[in-house]
Amino acid sequence: MHTLIKHGENAAYMFHDLGSGHMVQANQHIISKNGETLILDPGGHKVYTGLFSQLSSVIKPASIKYLFFSHQDPDIIAAANGWLMMTDAQAYLSELWMRFIPHFGIDQLVINRITPIPDSGMNITVGGMEVKLIPAHFLHSSGNFQVYDPEFKILYTGDLGASLGAPWIETEDFDAHVQYMDPFHRRYIPTNKAMKLWAQMARKLDIEIIAPQHGSVIKSSKAVQQFISWIENLQCGLDLMTEFSIP
Ligand SMILES: [Fe+2]
Ligand SMILES: [Fe+2]
Repeated sequence: MHTLIKHGENAAYMFHDLGSGHMVQANQHIISKNGETLILDPGGHKVYTGLFSQLSSVIKPASIKYLFFSHQDPDIIAAANGWLMMTDAQAYLSELWMRFIPHFGIDQLVINRITPIPDSGMNITVGGMEVKLIPAHFLHSSGNFQVYDPEFKILYTGDLGASLGAPWIETEDFDAHVQYMDPFHRRYIPTNKAMKLWAQMARKLDIEIIAPQHGSVIKSSKAVQQFISWIENLQCGLDLMTEFSIP
């Protein structure tokens, strides 16, 4: 467990090493405000057991009031049913995926505790403090949201900003870090157009930390601005594709 920020009652925690075997490394982020907890992208079944037991070292399980699912991938949402059964939390998920995730086995008793997020996004409150669920569609999923915490100036970017294999948990050195993000973004993000729209929006937010769902956290406003400029100009996905060859 890694503490991103802690100010009195309020804190941002990150679990980064609960996976095993062939699972892609994934981060589970925890936002704790005035005795209420929001869990972001809690992950699949094996992570669920470890996260649920380790969480109690930093928060009370009864404080888990909110769950956020950035998109429909299994590393985000496969254990949704367990989380909804074990807690009284309200969950948030893009309206695009509401009829698809019952295939993961969401019990009829708990499906009504998932609030569909409209395409335009929404605000929620955690411990009386506003947290923004902001649209980031096609980065990479077609129905995709990020979370902005104005108090700690953290943007939780989901798969955007993902890095694989970097030897650090946090970094302020964007130039050294970019090599670990580059291959993922070129293949998993569909088009530069979505990244340009995201960059325009991100520049309107006061951001000190970019906290993705895979790999390292990017810290310092300088490194954040470097990240936004890199994203804005990167060619990826369809931009790079020239043909489908027949195997
Ligand atoms: Fe994903
Ligand atoms: Fe992911």
